[in-house]
Amino acid sequence: MGRTQVVLLYIVVAVLLLFLISRSPNKTPNHRSRRLKVRSTFNFNPAASLDNKHREHIPFDPLIADIERRREDKEWEKHYFQTSHKEIVDAPAAEAQPEWEDFMNAEDYLNDDDRFNVTNRLVVLFPKIDIDPVDGYVTVHELTEWNLNQAQKEVMHRTLRDMEVHDKNHDGFISFAEYEPPSWVRNSNSDNNSFGYDMGWWKEEHFNATDADGDGLLNKTEFNDFLHPADSNNPRLLKWLCKEEVRERDTDRDGKLNFKEFFHGLFDLVRNYDIEEHNSSQISDNMMEGSAKILFGQLDKDGDGYLSEEELLQIIGKLHPSEKYYAKQQADYIISQADTDKDGRLSLTEMIESPYVFYSAIFNEEEEYEYHDEFR
Ligand SMILES: *[C@@H]1O[C@H](CO)[C@@H](O)[C@H](O)[C@H]1NC(C)=O
Ligand SMILES: *[C@@H]1O[C@H](CO)[C@@H](O)[C@H](O)[C@H]1NC(C)=O
Ligand SMILES: *[C@@H]1O[C@H](CO)[C@@H](O)[C@H](O)[C@H]1NC(C)=O
Ligand SMILES: *[C@@H]1O[C@H](CO)[C@@H](O)[C@H](O)[C@H]1NC(C)=O
Ligand SMILES: *[C@@H]1O[C@H](CO)[C@@H](O)[C@H](O)[C@H]1NC(C)=O
Repeated sequence: MGRTQVVLLYIVVAVLLLFLISRSPNKTPNHRSRRLKVRSTFNFNPAASLDNKHREHIPFDPLIADIERRREDKEWEKHYFQTSHKEIVDAPAAEAQPEWEDFMNAEDYLNDDDRFNVTNRLVVLFPKIDIDPVDGYVTVHELTEWNLNQAQKEVMHRTLRDMEVHDKNHDGFISFAEYEPPSWVRNSNSDNNSFGYDMGWWKEEHFNATDADGDGLLNKTEFNDFLHPADSNNPRLLKWLCKEEVRERDTDRDGKLNFKEFFHGLFDLVRNYDIEEHNSSQISDNMMEGSAKILFGQLDKDGDGYLSEEELLQIIGKLHPSEKYYAKQQADYIISQADTDKDGRLSLTEMIESPYVFYSAIFNEEEEYEYHDEFR
């Protein structure tokens, strides 16, 4: 054998060895390569959470949701004291260290296979999701309902936390006098031009539309609607939201939307929504204006060439996608990833075979490099 051939042989052997080592069965790479990371979902600027592009995934597992919630509450408390009660900030600062340790412990816990076994979690959760009907399969509908339920709990938790701050007389209700617009609205701009406030959010009309029983007070449900109008079932509040939508787009200030005002603003939102739903991509500019005209015609029920607030009600769910929309989107994603036999639903076995799809909300890809460290 020549020198080159010997060198080549060595290289082949080395590559084969590496390949074998990396596949060695005692390493269960699918599990060890991943690290679950507790997210900090608390957002100091709620304007971003009203912006659909910055949405956080809903945790699939209530146990994760609980850990994240507790962490978020702590951050929120700290932030709240720093901004609203500057005078007592110095005192709790000493507690910063233990908080961090709690967080580290939670993360260690999640990544300890013996204590937090994702297979066992899925086995426990499966019968809670497979309920409509109980048939040994999780359908898109069941998973959507599950996600929606998780999301609603999350949203209500934040609402109640907010309520504590605003409910100054602690009677469990918010009056308009008690309600103060969020600090980032008040502080950011003295000319009232910051997000939302220039429209009508957090003003009395918004409050009155939310107050379904008209008693001048918002209870928990109503206050939650106040903060998340698009998720509400209150027709008056949805109409108010349409009115705000018209106000924002109505450049000639005639109180309704002509085709131009619709095309340069709303249509893109509806179209993006429909693309995600039906995957109808690749439309040229001309076709786009054409399909905008068709949609405009369909929405303009009285055919006066304008869209009124009432007529916008038909698409308000697309202009402000609701929790239900995101819950369905996340369910579709999970099923597309885990449904190995492509029957459109998940068996427990399929779920257990792709456990990290369910934990993708907290799965941290950057940490994947840790795996490679193992066979150095
Ligand atoms: C998780 O639990 C299952 C069933 O109880 C067990 O077979 C599996 O080995 C456990 N996984 C780990 C990584 O401990
Ligand atoms: C901002 O809005 C508040 C409440 O509506 C009002 O009292 C104040 O005058 C406004 N400030 C400016 C600069 O418009
Ligand atoms: C809101 O309702 C209260 C009480 O019914 C009323 O006095 C007030 O004028 C209303 N405000 C607006 C802006 O509609
Ligand atoms: C709050 O009031 C509404 C009526 O406006 C009612 O439907 C709802 O059940 C109440 N919620 C709670 C938690 O009492
Ligand atoms: C959906 O979009 C993807 C990527 O744009 C494309 O490959 C696929 O064929 C589309 N599916 C349908 C049903 O249109």
